Parts: sequence; C-alpha cells; structure tokens
Amino acid sequence: MVMDSSFTLTAIFHKENRILLQRTIKLILKIKPGLLAICFSLKMIPSIMPSLQIYLTALIVDRIISVLNHNYELISVIHLLLVQLGLQLLSYMLNALERLLRKQISIHRNFKVNEIIGLKTSKIPLEYFEQNEYYDKVDKVSNGNRGLEIADSAFELITSCVAFSSFFYILINFHWSILLVMIIIAAPTLFTYFRIGKLSYELVMQQTQDIRKANYLYYLLKAKETSKEVRLYDLQNYFIEKWKKAFWINATDQYKLEKKTSLAMFGNDSLNAITNVIFLIFLLYIASKGLLTLGQYLALSVALNSITASVKMIIINFTRMNENALYTKELFEFIDLQEESASTYADRHNNQLLGKELAVENLSFKYPNKDKLVLKNISFKVHAGEKIAIVGENGAGKSTLVNCILGLYQSIDGRVLYDGVDLKDASPKFVREKTSAVFQDFVKYHLSLRENVGIGDVKTEMDDISVKRALSISGLSKITEQLPYKLNTPLGYSFENSYELSIGQWQRIALARAFFREAELIVLDEPTASMDPLSEAAFFEHFHSVSENKTTFIISHRLGSCRNADKILVLKAGELIEIGKHEELMSLNGEYAKMFYAQSKSYN
Ligand SMILES: Nc1ncnc2c1ncn2[C@@H]1O[C@H](COP(=O)(O)OP(=O)(O)O)[C@@H](O)[C@H]1O
Ligand SMILES: [Mg+2]
Repeated sequence: MVMDSSFTLTAIFHKENRILLQRTIKLILKIKPGLLAICFSLKMIPSIMPSLQIYLTALIVDRIISVLNHNYELISVIHLLLVQLGLQLLSYMLNALERLLRKQISIHRNFKVNEIIGLKTSKIPLEYFEQNEYYDKVDKVSNGNRGLEIADSAFELITSCVAFSSFFYILINFHWSILLVMIIIAAPTLFTYFRIGKLSYELVMQQTQDIRKANYLYYLLKAKETSKEVRLYDLQNYFIEKWKKAFWINATDQYKLEKKTSLAMFGNDSLNAITNVIFLIFLLYIASKGLLTLGQYLALSVALNSITASVKMIIINFTRMNENALYTKELFEFIDLQEESASTYADRHNNQLLGKELAVENLSFKYPNKDKLVLKNISFKVHAGEKIAIVGENGAGKSTLVNCILGLYQSIDGRVLYDGVDLKDASPKFVREKTSAVFQDFVKYHLSLRENVGIGDVKTEMDDISVKRALSISGLSKITEQLPYKLNTPLGYSFENSYELSIGQWQRIALARAFFREAELIVLDEPTASMDPLSEAAFFEHFHSVSENKTTFIISHRLGSCRNADKILVLKAGELIEIGKHEELMSLNGEYAKMFYAQSKSYN
C-alpha cells in the first residue's frame, strides 16, 4: 500500500515527499505569512520559560535555607518570588495571544483549502462523478484543514525541540550520563507513537467507504426525499438495522485501535517513570555525599521530569507530522486530479457554435471502470436549425448520447464536430455558453423563483421582464402572481417562507431556466415527463415557436410529440438503428413503427 512507503522514519528522504514538503510550505506561506511569523516567535519565548523557572526555583530553595540560617533577609526571597511571578504572567500572556493568532490563521487556512477544493470540484470531468473512487477522494479531503495541520505539528515540533534543548543544557552541565537516560527514554517512546500514528492513519483510510455507507443509511432515515417511502414501506427498522451493523463495525475497529493505543501508552509511560526513578535515586546518592545543594537536587529532578515530557512531545509531534503529511498528500492528489480540457482553440471568430452542421462520427462511449459500451459506433449529421427527436427504450443510451454531444463526457471514442471543429479541440466554456439544456435529473434549487430562472444565464440581469418571459414559454406565466413574494419567493422547503412546488411545476421552472439563456442549441431530456397531457401539448406548441431558428434535441417517450421532428434517431442498446422523418420510419415498419403502434394502441 502507498501509505507504507510514506510512513517511515526516513520518509523525508524520498524525492516525492520532498516535493510534497516544498509544495506544502509554499501553500502554507501563502496564507497570512505575517501572522504566522508573529505566532512562531510568540511560541518560542514561552518554550524556554520552564527551564528559567527551574533555575529560579533552585535559587529560591537555596536562598530560603540561607534565610533560615540567618545569612539573608526574607525580603530577598520575596524579590525572587516576584520575578518568578512576572515570568509566569508573561508566559501566560504570550500563550493567550498566540492562541488567538493561531485561531485566526486556522480560519484563513480552512477557508483557503475549502475554496481550492470547491473550485477544483467544479472543474473535474463529469465522468469522475460516476465513480465511487471520486467520492472516496472527496471524503478524504473534505476535512480540508487536516491537510495543512502539518504546519502546526511542525511548529510544535520545533518548540518542543527548543524546550528540550534548554532542559538538556541544565542536565548535561551536571553529568554526561544524562545522555544515556535520554536514549533509554526516547527509543521506546519513538517506537510506540510511530506505531500508533501509522495504525490510526490506516484505519481512517480504510474506513472512508464504510463510514460513508453508514452515513448514507442514516441519511435515508432522515432525508425529505426518502421520508414518504420510508414510512409507506415501513423501512425505519430495516434501515436502522443496516445502519447499526455498519456503525458498530466502524466503532469496534476504532475501539480496538484505542485499546492498543492506551496499552502502548501505559507501557511506555511506566517505563519512563521507572527510568526516572532510577536516575533520581542516583541523584539522591550524590546529594547524600554533600555534592548537591537541596536547591540543585530539586532543579535536577524537575528538569529530568520536564525533559522526559519534552522528549515525548518531540516524538508525538514528529509522528503527528508524518501522519499529517499523508493527509497533505491526499490533498495534493486531489488538487492534481486531471481537469476538463480547457482548450480555447476553437473560439470562433464569428462567435457562433453551430452555423451549418453538427456531425457525430463513430461515437462510442463507456462509463469509467465499466466494460460495457453504452454507445456503439454512432454516426449521424444534423443541419443547423433542425429539430431532432431521440427515442428508444429505457437504458438505450439517449441521455448518455446528448451528454457526449454537449461535451460533458470527454473520454469518448470517435468525434463530435460542430461546423467541422472537433469538440475535443473546442473550449468547453464556449460550447456551454451557446447551449441550453434541461436534464432528466434537473436540479430543484432552493433559491428564489427569480434565481431559479435567472441562473440560466448569470451574465444577464435577472429583471422581472426577462424572467417572466422565460416563465411564460414554459407555461408558468401565472405562477408569479400566486406566490406570496412574487418572483422573490424562495422555492423548496429548506428555508423560511419557502414555497414548495409540484414536480411538474419544478420541471417547467427548469425549462424556463433553459429558455432564459439565448442559446443556439437546446437539449431537452424528457422535458414533459412530469407534466399533465394539456400542459405537455401547450408546451410543445409554444416551444416550436420560440425555438424556430435553433437546433434542438428532444428526448421523448411520447412518440406523438416527435411527428414534426426533422429527424428522429432511434436508439436500441447503444446503437443507432433507424434515422429519418416520422413518415419514413413508419413506412420502414421497423422498431419505431412498432413503438408507435404500441403507444397509439394504449391511447385508444
Ligand atoms: N453513471 C453511470 N455509470 C455507469 N453506467 C451508466 C451510468 N449512467 C447510465 N449508465 C448505463 O448506460 C446505459 C444508458 O443509460 P442512459 O443513457 O441513461 O439511457 P436512457 O437515457 O436511454 O434511458 C444504461 O445501460 C445504464 O445502465
Ligand atoms: Mg435518459
């Protein structure tokens, strides 16, 4: 596994990791570098404070003994106590200030990383969204801040090293054997924490899918979209049971890890305590020989305890840094995901996408990580301005075909040519600016009615007249008057004063959104699926008049609405099996005619 190669003591020497480190530092330094510098300095000062305190304590204890022996005035001890108090207050103040600044930096970091991830997500090719690996990657980086926590652990590592050095200075001045004690303490601690860090990272990575599954099952219980079915089919217990299983599998693994961690920490801490006591006995022995004052003995024993703690901190921070580096790696892997091709080669001089002809040549497509070809070697031509209908049974590939034509799926075999320019060489942005679409799974935006229509073209002002014009094309001219806040009424159910629409009304809002944009090419995927027959008839009548000069693709199950189409494409299991006008296909007496008869029979 990848993580194994990264989670080693020598990881820093791998070239790949060095590059990662450089990128991380660059990113971190981009976010509030001034604050970061202040924060760092503020942290340094308090980290040498404890060793100063130790010196002072030794001095105070020896001074008290002298006072008791009448060699000094009491006031001199009080002076020293006041200095000690001053140092303490200073260090508290610096700590508080540093905390505050660090919070500020962390907020900015959180914002920056989430912004990067948010922008990146919208540039990833649509195909990625069809794969569970994508959701794994998103889940792993969605706790955005984690990727930059490496900076904090590096920070802590440096300060704990400074603290360590200052204690070490006190102790080594006393005796060289202290080095031995340090090694005895450090080796097992390093091993313990390294192992814990590795296990915990592995568990997080391994559980990504399992936790998503548990969360999904829980979502089924509480979402509005599922609430009706959950009640009607009495699914509460069924989902609770499934969720319970998933929850406890994850929880048990986490608990097991915690058990290992606690045990290892206990063992390690005990070992450290024993080492300390042995050394203290050694000190006591020296003191009994009159080679140490009481103050010195106290100072050394405190310094020893503190240095043990700081060795532990160094190791904890070192392993945490290593662990965080793995999250940072995930973050950069996400940032490095391939983006949609952004070639600008084909931005036309005449600013037109489709003036003559759209040609599809030998188009084949399969979804990523799937073997089955969903579209097989499809070829046809369409003249600008033609009305095209696509028909075929469920799963024939109709929606996939229009997504390929729109350039939403880029990993296609074959070519899609707009006026002779291959879509692969065209700028997706340009193609999209010139097209409008209502997808089968259109979005119900929980925004105002005005925005629901107006975001069809964010460059155009969403004024009352334009929005109402688009609404009237999709047969919703009366809706505005019925809503409490007219165009500004929030739709859906998420927010206060919202107004929920019927699914048919939502679909017409989606159509209005498509019409709000001045497009050359309009694609409607089963646009009337949720409409009543009268609305549907009215819609098609209206649609033909507004789309007169535009090229349109309509996917429809109602073959009656295809009669006037200039071309009908009949798809079956990914193949284009018939193409022609209604009359031509009827006289062919093939698949289309069969479907048409079957439908007209059901209407009689
Ligand atoms: N995201 C996807 N991942 C894998 N296969 C898919 C995906 N979406 C659709 N398919 C498959 O592609 C085929 C065509 O689907 P689609 O184009 O939606 O059909 P239609 O619109 O004609 O009903 C179906 O067999 C379906 O199983
Ligand atoms: Mg479809």
